[in-house]
Parts: sequence; structure tokens; C-alpha cells
Amino acid sequence: MSNVEKIYFSPSSTTKKVVEEISNNFNEKKEIFDLLNFNSEKVFASDDIAIVGMPVFAGRIPKTARKRLEKIKGDNTPAIAVVNYGNAHVSDALLELVDLLKENNFNVIAAASTVSHHSIFSGVAQGRPDSSDIEKINEFAQKCIEKIESGESLTSEIPGNRPYTDYKQLPFVVSCDDMACAFCYDCVSICPENAIPDDDPVDTDLDLCSRCTACIHICPEDARMFTGDAFEAKKPEFEKANSERKDPEFYL
Ligand SMILES: Cc1cc2nc3c(=O)[nH]c(=O)nc-3n(C[C@H](O)[C@H](O)[C@H](O)COP(=O)(O)O)c2cc1C
Ligand code: SF4
Ligand code: SF4
Repeated sequence: MSNVEKIYFSPSSTTKKVVEEISNNFNEKKEIFDLLNFNSEKVFASDDIAIVGMPVFAGRIPKTARKRLEKIKGDNTPAIAVVNYGNAHVSDALLELVDLLKENNFNVIAAASTVSHHSIFSGVAQGRPDSSDIEKINEFAQKCIEKIESGESLTSEIPGNRPYTDYKQLPFVVSCDDMACAFCYDCVSICPENAIPDDDPVDTDLDLCSRCTACIHICPEDARMFTGDAFEAKKPEFEKANSERKDPEFYL
């Protein structure tokens, strides 16, 4: 019996939403591999179906997510590769994801870049994915099902360059309002970089922090946020430059 394997790294949950939307088109039993906490070796069977979603971080798939995905292999397992970005740039992220899945013995049958609310700059792509995105994502999922049934692989060329653009660390500060913190430690548990000390959730080690947004998104008190001069200076300029709507792209 084959399974649909939902594999994603989704600090602010929009990539997860896109993967869920695609997977809901399949009737098979579902399994979840959430790479915010799944960091083990795994090999899927040839009759499984993998749906792999990654957010775009500075034109790449996130470094830690990549390291975790490197441990997950296929056995010529059909895979759908999705990168989800914040209406700015995909750059080399989709090419990188497709390359990595192929290296890991997946049979990539289709790929997509989808647009979601920007997890750092809240004014960009608000409300996305919206109903128009979801409709297109579901049409894509139906085409994926047809491709898997007919045994076809990906034929479209994926945009991007090799070598991929260098990793970039954003200069923004992630901080915590100690008056708002309720010391629930949810941020400590979710941080994929162990950047929040387990005895002091108000602190953040900015040398370890990848600015992924998971702690900000999970905090029930809205105590964690981006702050600092670099962030405040960039925000209006970035939101203006990326205000024009971009549409998802699908590759079959
Ligand atoms: C560190 C970081 C870097 C990002 N870099 C890009 C980028 O290069 N291009 C872009 O369009 N969006 C970028 N984004 C926005 C995310 O790709 C986008 O909001 C995505 O939906 C986040 O997925 P998630 O909700 O699953 O975390 C970045 C977000 C973060 C946190
Ligand atoms: S998730 Fe928020 S409230 Fe909970 S410990 Fe972290 S900062 Fe404090
Ligand atoms: S501290 Fe940094 S790396 Fe850890 S969850 Fe928060 S934003 Fe992500």
C-alpha cells in the first residue's frame, strides 16, 4: 500500500498549507515529515509519492532544511517539488530542490513555485495563498496525479543557475519582549537552530539564528518579533519594491 509523504520545512506554516492542499487531491494514506523537528534518516518505497515543500530563503532552500532533507532518500519514488516564496524572488531555490531530490533517488515528476505571505515583511503578499492560488494549485495536483499514473517524469526546464547563489544571513534582529513573554517555552522547542536558550526564552543567539520566523509564528503572546534599525529601514523599501502580484509557476 503506497503512502503520500508530506515533507516540509515551514516556519510560518504557509509552505505546509501548500503541501496540504496538493496532498488533499490524493486518496492514499498520508504521513507527515515536518523538518522543523524531523532530523533522521528515512528511505521511501518506489510506490510511495513524496510532496516536498520548502520556503525560499534568500534565493535558496533554507540551509538547515537542506541538511535534514539530505537524509531522506527515495527508491525511484515519484516526487513533487514545491518552493514557496514571498512574492520577491525564487532565484535558484526550485532548481536546488529538484537537483537534491534527484540526487536522493527521487523521480521528480513535477515542480512548482508558489507565492505566500512574506514571513518577514508583513505588507507583502498579504492573504496569500488566496482562492486564485489554491485553484491553480489544485489544477496542478490533478495533473500530477495523471503524470504519476502514466509513469511520466518532469520534462520542463527549471529556472535557476548552478552554482546556486551563496547563502546570505539577513542582518535583522529577532528579539523578545520580556514583559509579554509567558515562559511557555514553545519557541525553545520549535527553534531548528537551538538559538533560544532553554533556561531563558527571552534571549536569542543571533549567531545561531537563521531568522526562520518559527518562534515568532508559534509564540502565543506575540512576544517575539523582528526589530532593529536595519529591519525598520528595509521594510518600507522592500514592501514597495515587491507590491506587484506574482503568480505561481508550474513545471510538468
Ligand atoms: C530568512 C528568510 C529569507 C527569505 N527570503 C526570501 C526570498 O529570497 N524571496 C522571497 O520571495 N521570499 C523570501 N522569504 C519569504 C518566504 O519565502 C515566504 O514568506 C514563505 O512563504 C515562508 O514560508 P513558511 O510560511 O512555510 O515559513 C524569506 C523569508 C525568510 C524568513
Ligand atoms: S513562545 Fe513566546 S511566550 Fe512562550 S516562551 Fe517563547 S517568547 Fe515566551
Ligand atoms: S530564534 Fe531564529 S532560528 Fe530560532 S526559531 Fe526564532 S527565528 Fe528561527
